[in-house]
Amino acid sequence: DKGNHRHFMEKEIYEQPEVISHALSHYVDFHSHEVKPVDAAIDFKSLRGLAVSACGTAYLSGLVGKYWFERYARLPVEIDVASEFRYREMPLSKDQAALFISQSGETADTLASLRYCHEAGLKIGAIVNVKESTIAREADAVFPILAGPEIGVASTKAFTCQLAVLASLSIAAGKARGTISAEEEKQLVKNLAEMPRIMSQVLNAIQPQMEALARDLSKFKDVLYLGRGTSYPLAMEGALKLKEISYIHAEGYAAGELKHGPIALIDENMPVIVIAPHDRFFDKTVSNMQEVAARGGRIIFITDEKGAAASKLETMATIVLPNVAEIISPMVFSLPIQLLAYHTAVFMGTDVDQPRNLAKSVTVE
Ligand code: M6R
Repeated sequence: DKGNHRHFMEKEIYEQPEVISHALSHYVDFHSHEVKPVDAAIDFKSLRGLAVSACGTAYLSGLVGKYWFERYARLPVEIDVASEFRYREMPLSKDQAALFISQSGETADTLASLRYCHEAGLKIGAIVNVKESTIAREADAVFPILAGPEIGVASTKAFTCQLAVLASLSIAAGKARGTISAEEEKQLVKNLAEMPRIMSQVLNAIQPQMEALARDLSKFKDVLYLGRGTSYPLAMEGALKLKEISYIHAEGYAAGELKHGPIALIDENMPVIVIAPHDRFFDKTVSNMQEVAARGGRIIFITDEKGAAASKLETMATIVLPNVAEIISPMVFSLPIQLLAYHTAVFMGTDVDQPRNLAKSVTVE
């Protein structure tokens, strides 16, 4: 049931504050602001590394997770798309654990990667939405994302719930490994707890602007997304979302890679969507934005209040989100990205919930 929404995708975008709050309550205590104990099958304290594998949007959530595990838990993360991971013959050792991320829990390549790690004797964690799935059944520890059924082929709420779970797990890992203090843990959990309310506000505030901007975006054939740090996987997720449902060609790049190739494409026919919260990478990303502007590129700037105040560049549009703590910015910044793709597809009249050639669950290689 779509309720009063036109598509499941739209419904699922607007459900995010509620489902994320539900997901978080499974992993953190909203009163004591501590993380809850993690399934003992994954002993973060003794681990030397984490091998992460997934496909599509689930892979991109894992890529954000890599930044968090490395930063908060000082835990090295090896991550790859499952279709490569399973054939790479990478050296694995038993002091690593393996983590698989899958909304459906049935993705063929992800399952094959899981079995490969199981053979190698690694403990297996699964971040899944469907708890009765094959991937959940074959894991030693299941970390549910509790997003509720996701019907739209383009993943939205599963992505942000995966992020919420990964953020919580990385704090738990940091606590177990003694790499974050009790005070830092409390602060990070407080930040997570604020997220549902902030997401609701953002969804309401930006909707009209996203709809208007989507009309402009629908006139282009190519779009480039740029970001640094955790905004880099978000840039790739933005591009994936746009190409899946609007069929506009889009690429996501690390902003620092601009000069190593994609800058050759910049002209007035390829808008560049820059995802840049006012974090420690902001100035660097702005200098990449200047390079785009100097070559006549049109910029759609997704930033926060501080970022908007700090940049004087002329843009095609500037989307201003509230200033938020660094750990929640990937979830908050997902919202304009999802809405922009959604409204562009609606405007172009594509089949938003069931885009051509795609299946919700990819159970063959
Ligand atoms: O069910 P899974 O999370 O394992 O699915 C992985 C991908 O097939 C999926 O995320 C796909 O990329 C989505 N259509 C993205 O919106």
